[in-house]
Amino acid sequence: MTDNLEQKALITIFGGTGDLANRKLYPSLYHLFSKGYLKKNFAVIGTARREWSNDFFRDKVKESIQDIATSSAEADEFASHFYYQSHDVTNKESYVSLKTLSDSLDQKYDLAGNRIFYLAMAPNFFGIIASRIKSEGFVDTKGFHRLIIEKPFGHDLESAKELNDSLREAFHEDEIYRIDHYLGKEMIQNISVIRFANSIIESLWNNRYIDNIQVTLSETLGVEDRGRYYDESGALRDMVQNHILQIVSLLAMEPPIKLSTKEIRHEKVRALRSLRVYEGEEVLKNFIRGQYSAGHAFGKELKGYREEDNVNPESNTETFVAAKLLIDNFRWTGVPFYIRTGKRLAGKATQIAIRFKDVPMNLFSGDMAALGGNVLVIHIQPNEGITLHLNVKKPGQGMETMPVNLNYAHSSPDGMNTPEAYEKLILDCLRGDATYFSHWDEVSLSWNFIDHVADVWKGTDTHFPNYKPGTMGPDEADELLTKDGFSWFKVHEEE
Ligand code: BG6
Repeated sequence: MTDNLEQKALITIFGGTGDLANRKLYPSLYHLFSKGYLKKNFAVIGTARREWSNDFFRDKVKESIQDIATSSAEADEFASHFYYQSHDVTNKESYVSLKTLSDSLDQKYDLAGNRIFYLAMAPNFFGIIASRIKSEGFVDTKGFHRLIIEKPFGHDLESAKELNDSLREAFHEDEIYRIDHYLGKEMIQNISVIRFANSIIESLWNNRYIDNIQVTLSETLGVEDRGRYYDESGALRDMVQNHILQIVSLLAMEPPIKLSTKEIRHEKVRALRSLRVYEGEEVLKNFIRGQYSAGHAFGKELKGYREEDNVNPESNTETFVAAKLLIDNFRWTGVPFYIRTGKRLAGKATQIAIRFKDVPMNLFSGDMAALGGNVLVIHIQPNEGITLHLNVKKPGQGMETMPVNLNYAHSSPDGMNTPEAYEKLILDCLRGDATYFSHWDEVSLSWNFIDHVADVWKGTDTHFPNYKPGTMGPDEADELLTKDGFSWFKVHEEE
């Protein structure tokens, strides 16, 4: 490992005692440490309201990496870079002691004034933290200053704008790293390579050859302990506004003139600008929502959404969304992008299916339907890889056809929502590469699109709950495609 891999920085994590920090951030930082990206010149400050000592905090950090640490000596060495500061984000005084600690660590570890501020806590405090970071002089050092901010980035366009304005008081757009952890996933980053490094793919990547594109993000979990947040959010804001629209923009964008952050973002923004914004009746025709009922699935009795903790017993919040999106430009006019996501579905999987048009006529025995269409499937998780579905001759006499799959799979490091996505994103931020973070222009276009849907839904009745756990959502989600003559490409065997 050469020395120039090493990144120097002070990383201050607001929400340092939280679930995200323990499950994702500390393991990711440890991976960066064990690979030599973080070595001697780094320090991490964890802040939260609780009164913890450095030793107690370091024990927690070590606990969070116990399954991945190669030796206890290495875990000790890693944890020795961690410091804890009890902090009340609304209290000005708190920032004074935090700043003193920051400056001393800067000296002690020779950090060149490089600072990353990671906001891993309730979004209502994002604005105040950013403005104190500015007013108390945290960003007056010589090095770089970057803000990593977790979702949700607002709950509609207006609140997102407000939040953005408050962040912009302290940070420039190019210093703000808005996390969308899907953008850190290996196979999401692979979309551009699959498209732009393969002439046989990119030359077919348009409305002359593609029939429809399907994006499925399905989960088996319910809302778990996040009822309070989720009941205000719902699947539309929780998954579609960010992860799904980001994936759609990567699938739909034009080839960038080069692989720079600026050029890629420019093309993603153009794709999002071409997304047809639905109004009134169009929303009801093209967007389907669902909510899970109680039921038996995965070998146990499960509560309905309305019975979950911290959820309104009469809640009309959607736990499932399916939709038909249209992109009005030369490349995509006429090609529906079907999307779906939901909780308590038949399996945990994220998959993109690109269905190519049928051949003009079937020269072989049977009708057209017997000849399976060509489909390119990009498996995001839990499996990672691509499958191309083709037709070949059945061995033996005659000219009967049969489907075959060309498979490329590489094993996913350790299942879903791995720290690896965070690891990549934190390293990108340390290096100043914002390609796989959401730019404000993308966020605002996405919110504008989502707000139109949410407004229409707010004013119309629902018939919730309308799907059972362990299924793939309400029947209307299937009808959305059958009325166009299509069907969902299976994600799970049970489907
Ligand atoms: C988060 C959502 O952004 O993504 C969660 O808030 C969801 O509700 C999660 O469960 C899914 O992420 P992954 O990586 O497990 O597919």
